[in-house]
Amino acid sequence: MSKNFDVVVIGGGPGGYIAAIRAAQLGFNTACIDEWKNEKGGPAPGGTCTNVGCIPSKALLQSSEHYEHASHGFAEHGIEVKGLGLNLEKMLGRKNTVVKQNNDGILYLFKKNKVTFFHGRGSFAKGDANGYEIKVAGAAEDTIVAKHVIVATGSNARALPGVPFDEQLILSNTGALAITEVPKKLGVIGAGVIGLEMGSVWRRLGAEVTVLEALPAFLGAVDEQIAKEAQKLLTKQGLNVSLGVKIGEIKAGKKSVTVEYTDAKGDAQKGEFDKLIVSIGRTPNTIGLNAEGVGLKLDERGFIAVDGDCKTNLPNVWAVGDVVRGPMLAHKAEEEGVAVAERIAGQHGHVNFNTIPWVIYTSPEIAWVGKTEQQLKADGVQYKAGTFPFLANGRARALGDTSGMVKFLADAKTDEILGVHIVGPMASELISEAVVAMEFRASSEDIARICHAHPSLSEATKEAALAVDKRALNF
Ligand code: FAD
Ligand code: NAI
Repeated sequence: MSKNFDVVVIGGGPGGYIAAIRAAQLGFNTACIDEWKNEKGGPAPGGTCTNVGCIPSKALLQSSEHYEHASHGFAEHGIEVKGLGLNLEKMLGRKNTVVKQNNDGILYLFKKNKVTFFHGRGSFAKGDANGYEIKVAGAAEDTIVAKHVIVATGSNARALPGVPFDEQLILSNTGALAITEVPKKLGVIGAGVIGLEMGSVWRRLGAEVTVLEALPAFLGAVDEQIAKEAQKLLTKQGLNVSLGVKIGEIKAGKKSVTVEYTDAKGDAQKGEFDKLIVSIGRTPNTIGLNAEGVGLKLDERGFIAVDGDCKTNLPNVWAVGDVVRGPMLAHKAEEEGVAVAERIAGQHGHVNFNTIPWVIYTSPEIAWVGKTEQQLKADGVQYKAGTFPFLANGRARALGDTSGMVKFLADAKTDEILGVHIVGPMASELISEAVVAMEFRASSEDIARICHAHPSLSEATKEAALAVDKRALNF
C-alpha cells in the first residue's frame, strides 16, 4: 500500500470524514486517520457526532418522545394504552445500533470513494511545505507522508474546575447518553443545547430534572421572543430551570452528588442528585497531535488558529470543525471540510457563516438562522418583524402540536430576510426553507408569494412572511 498521500485527514468526525470523501472525489489519493474505538476496540469513525453526539442524542430524543406520547399524548387521539412499560436496556440498545449503522456507513463510504482508513492516533512527526510525516499509533503502527494535511480532531466536553467526569455520577455527554437506570433526581449544570436536549430525554423517561444555568437569561443567544416561548413551554413540561445561579462546591458521594449553589437572589441552595450532567460547553481537542512539535499555532483559547479559508500558519496544513473557531456544529464542520478539499484542488470552496442554521431538538424544536431581533437592534438595523403561531395552522392542529411560532425579520427598506426563528413542531425541517431563501437573498415577499402545500406546517412559514407586511391570511 502506498504510504504517500496527496491529502491526509486527521480525525474522522463530520469535518474529517466528509473532507476525506470530497478530496477523494476530486481525484486526490486520500487517507483518513481516526482513533475512536467501539466497545470491541474496533474502528468507529464519525467522531463525537456519530458516537456520543448528534446521532445517539437524536435516537434517544425520538425514543423518549414516543414514550411520552404513549403515556400522555395518545389518549387525546382516542388511543388507550394499558400496561405501558419502559425497557431502557432495549432503548439504549437501539441507540447503539443506530450509532453502529452510522459507523459502518462511513467505513463503507471510505471504501466506495477509495479513501484509505487508518485506525489509530495521528500525530505530526515532522514536515514542511514539501510534505508532512504523520505517525499513526494504533493497532498497527505506521508512518505516512502527506502533501496536504487537514486537521479535524474535534472537541471534548469541558469539566468544571476540580470536578472531573467519572461518567458514573458526574456525566459528560458520553455518560448522559448511557444512563442504565432512570435517575429519580437528575441535576444538569448548563442550560445550553446539551442540557436542554438531555434534560428533556431523562425528564420524559421519568426523572425529576433540575437545570442550573449561570446566565440570567434563558438561551441568551436565541431571539428573545422565541427563547421566552421555549422557556414557557419546556417549564410547563416539567423541566425545572434555575437561571442566574453560581455553582459552589460539588461533592460526589457513593450514590449521589450534592451541588451547592447560590440562586439568582443570592440565597444559598443545595441540590442532591442521583446523577449530574455537566454541559457547560466544549473545548477544542489537540491532544496527542504534536502541534507544538511542528509549530502549528493555537489561539489563546486552544483552538487551532486559522484564517477565513481554514488555513493554519503552516503551509498546506488546514483545520476544520470544532477544533477551529465558529459554531461547534456538525454541518458547519462538514461545510468546512468540503470547502478545504475544494481549495486544495484550486477551486473556490465557500462557507457562508451567516446562513448556518441552529437547531435544538427539544419538543417543540427550536431552530433559527441569521440575526436575532436583539442583534439587529444592537447593530442599528431598521427591520420589520412578522410572526405566525402554530395555533392557527391546520396541520399543527391535526397533529395535536400547536405550540410555538415562526418569526421573520426582514430589512425595513429592501425586505431582504435577515433572520428566521422558529419554536414549534418540526422546526428542524422548516428552517431549511429559510436557509435557502437567505442564501438566495430572498425577500419576505418572495416567501409570501410562493405556493406552500396545504395542510402543512410550512404554511406557518409563508404566513409569518406575509405577517411582515401585516397581511397574514389565517391569523
Ligand atoms: P468530532 O466529531 O469531535 O470528530 C473528531 C474525531 O477525531 C474523533 O473521532 C476523534 O476520536 C478523532 N481524533 C481526535 N484526535 C485525533 C488524532 N490525533 N488522531 C486520530 N483521530 C483523532 N451538532 C449538530 O450539528 N447537530 C446536533 O444535533 C448535535 N448534537 C450534539 C449532541 C451532543 C451530545 C454533542 C456532544 C454534540 C452535538 N453536536 C451537534 C456537535 C457535533 O457533534 C460537533 O460539532 C461535530 O461532531 C464536530 O465535528 P468534528 O469533525 O469537528 O469533530
Ligand atoms: P452550550 O454552549 O450550548 O451551553 C453551555 C451552557 O452552560 C451555557 O448556557 C452557559 O451559560 C452555561 N454555563 C457555562 N458555565 C457554567 C457554570 N459554571 N455554571 C452554570 N452554567 C454554566 O454547551 P453544551 O450544551 O455543553 O453543548 C456544547 C456544544 O455542542 C453546543 O454549543 C453546540 O455547539 C453543540 N451541540 C449542538 C447540538 C445541536 O446542534 N442540536 C446539540 C448538542 C450540542
